[in-house]
Amino acid sequence: MFDRLAPRYDVINDVASLGLDRLWRRAVVDAVAARPGDLILDLAAGTGTSSEPFAAAGCLVVPTDMSLGMLAEGRKRYPKLTFVAGDALALPYQDSSFDAATISFGLRNVAHTEQALSELLRVVKPGGTLVICEFSTPTWAPWRSLYTTYLPRVVPLIASWVSPNPAAYHYLVDSIVAWPDQQELAVLMQRAGWQQVEHRNLAGGIVALHRGRRGD
Ligand SMILES: C[S@@+](CC[C@H](N)C(=O)[O-])C[C@H]1O[C@@H](n2cnc3c(N)ncnc32)[C@H](O)[C@@H]1O
Repeated sequence: MFDRLAPRYDVINDVASLGLDRLWRRAVVDAVAARPGDLILDLAAGTGTSSEPFAAAGCLVVPTDMSLGMLAEGRKRYPKLTFVAGDALALPYQDSSFDAATISFGLRNVAHTEQALSELLRVVKPGGTLVICEFSTPTWAPWRSLYTTYLPRVVPLIASWVSPNPAAYHYLVDSIVAWPDQQELAVLMQRAGWQQVEHRNLAGGIVALHRGRRGD
């Protein structure tokens, strides 16, 4: 599915999120709190839009994704980044390879959430950090009700104007609705072995950043 979305993927994100996605990406970099020179895995990196801010902060970021179409688009867009083809369920990296890992708007698309969380734990060094940026559940009831109206009506409409594959955006809406809320995702992270799990809501909980640490 992502192979076919790749050429218009970033434009649709900007339009559907009203440009907020750029602020969310900045918040991910801040939550990782990486230092220049740190080796960062950006899993499900797609076209590299979630990876580039780490490179700009002086980190050595490794964008990794299983969609060859998204990787090809990323290589065109960010020729200085080293894109790697890899599956979240069997990462092509040795144990304890990365100072930190991050996954933005990707975990929801992986077939087995807990297996991906365990793989991420395996490849991050002891003491290292995981930051997940994902759609979540607005916490304030009126905002939640506005959002649940906006989501199924407006997102497919925008996609029908600008995407070659509008059906994929019906999947997107369904997957957001079915996705665990903030507390449920925190439990999944803890079950996979992540410690000190905490989260921060963005845009009132439309998006949540979850952070965990691998024990020493
Ligand atoms: C919505 S895009 C997110 C891209 C990017 N992180 C961003 O924030 O713009 C989701 C990505 O997850 C990738 N993906 C889905 N399942 C995957 C898996 N098992 N392993 C690696 N990547 C996967 C897709 O190929 C797609 O590029």
